[in-house]
Amino acid sequence: MTRTVLLLILGMTTILAGLAAGAPRNPEQGRMIYEEHCLRCHGSHGRGDGPDAPFLSPRPASLISAGTSAKPDADLLAVIMNGKPRTAMPAWKEGLTEEQRRDVLAYIRTLIRFGPKPLTPPPP
Ligand code: HEC
Repeated sequence: MTRTVLLLILGMTTILAGLAAGAPRNPEQGRMIYEEHCLRCHGSHGRGDGPDAPFLSPRPASLISAGTSAKPDADLLAVIMNGKPRTAMPAWKEGLTEEQRRDVLAYIRTLIRFGPKPLTPPPP
């Protein structure tokens, strides 16, 4: 009995903590935002090789590099929100809602592959 109550409390706490951290985001939604706003610089696979990349200095970041992918969500969301000074990275705090910025980050996270799985074909 006590155990059941304890388990219930544990379950509720986990759910509440999950809610506090923000509902899980939608990478499929994020893909559309990425293709519309980010792909031209960061490239279809996030490698920093989009069609505009050769004209920029510094070049757009590879979003799948070990350096970038190891950064916590909070750091990457801050760059997406405020842009990056002295680079072409725009601030998206007006152009995208917080949910959209989280969705696009969720999509970026799906571009990382540690195994030899084939990459998804680039969008048409
Ligand atoms: C006009 C080109 C351009 C566009 C459009 C663009 N970026 Fe960037 N982005 C950059 C550049 C340049 C950097 C900085 C590279 C550096 O640090 O040297 C950058 C950096 C970043 C970083 C930081 C990487 C790190 O390791 O700190 C993230 C995250 C990012 N961009 C996400 C996005 C997202 C998401 C979008 C679309 C909503 C987007 N970018 C649109 C050019 C662009």
